[in-house]
Amino acid sequence: MFEQLQPAPPDSILGLTEAWREDPRPEKVNLGVGVFKDDDGNTPVLEAVKAAEAALLAGESTKNYLPSAGDPDYRRHVQTFVLEGVSAPVAERAVTLQAPGGTGALRIGAEFIRFALPGARVWLSRPTWANHYGVFNAAGLESEEYAWYDAETHALAFDDLRTALRDVPAGDVVLLHACCHNPTGVDPDPAQWSEIAGCAAERGWLPFLDAAYLGFGKGLEEDRAATKAFAAAGVPFLQSTSFSKNMSLYRERVGALTFVAGDAAQAAAALSQIQRRVRVLYSNPPSHGAAVAARILGDRLLRTRWEAELGEMRERIHAMRRQLVDGLAARGAKRDFSFIRAQQGMFSFSGLDDAAVARMREEFSIYMVKGGRVNVAGVTRGNIDYVCDAMAAVLR
Ligand SMILES: Cc1ncc(COP(=O)(O)O)c(C=O)c1O
Repeated sequence: MFEQLQPAPPDSILGLTEAWREDPRPEKVNLGVGVFKDDDGNTPVLEAVKAAEAALLAGESTKNYLPSAGDPDYRRHVQTFVLEGVSAPVAERAVTLQAPGGTGALRIGAEFIRFALPGARVWLSRPTWANHYGVFNAAGLESEEYAWYDAETHALAFDDLRTALRDVPAGDVVLLHACCHNPTGVDPDPAQWSEIAGCAAERGWLPFLDAAYLGFGKGLEEDRAATKAFAAAGVPFLQSTSFSKNMSLYRERVGALTFVAGDAAQAAAALSQIQRRVRVLYSNPPSHGAAVAARILGDRLLRTRWEAELGEMRERIHAMRRQLVDGLAARGAKRDFSFIRAQQGMFSFSGLDDAAVARMREEFSIYMVKGGRVNVAGVTRGNIDYVCDAMAAVLR
């Protein structure tokens, strides 16, 4: 029955980690997968998470199913968190569902679009997180691309972006990274976000914000610039939120989908429609990680502790960016790498072409995603010199 079955091609990012694991050279470095590492190369459980888990373990009284839309406490806290600092009164026409991770939130959002906006296409930045194509295409949506990155200036190609977004047909969907764009690390500033949101209002396309790295850029408040801009523009929008990175809850699958609708009735209708789709996808979400996140968001002391830990993660990434730039300059790299310092979040588009990326892997066992994306959080005090030496060597 299965003679024709061929193995699937390796995932472009997860496959890299598998190859890194099998690499016998002890000096190997994984700058591929998007996971935060501390200066010892570990991805530890946050103190705030440990404290929340201890309290939950002591107080847990049932393992009964959660509703399809998830834990009501979690949904309430996450919606408040997502819309914090948003001055426009959008909460009354917003609904938030718990979802299994940011990926799960994107997928149920895609399922909702497929149902509510038949024929709508989704526009993705070029480049984007590779899985965006897979998630939206799996839900039956066709994808298109819009300009994002200027490889010459290593900055946002804002003029091209603006031109592209003006041409997106009304009723289509535009997926935008809310902050810390993956893979380029290049984000619009608040004025540019306002212009993008104005374009959505004028042209009638639906914004879908993917917020997977809130707090990893400039700080939680600043990283909400996109959400604030779309709320202020008065347009309906979707937002997926992930706590995988900023709470370091990767394997617990903690995410949410928020829909800010045109009015409260639309929001309620959307909620019931999304719940129907959840029912046939996974029925209802897992509890543990969301309960941890709800506890942290809802408890003043835990929240303060978490924000401090998030600040430390953010600072470490910024410090590694600075050290990479200085380390390359000290090795006489001919190119100016100061743009690495300006990029936001965990990723940096290093400017290394595919040939250089292949040499980094073959000669130095340093693994990067094709296209030259570097996970800056994979750089540690233990490997920074080795990484800078290798980059300088392949650039020579
Ligand atoms: C841009 C982007 N969106 C969504 C996700 C998915 O996050 P999660 O692990 O919570 O599913 C990621 C994770 O790498 C990401 O980089």
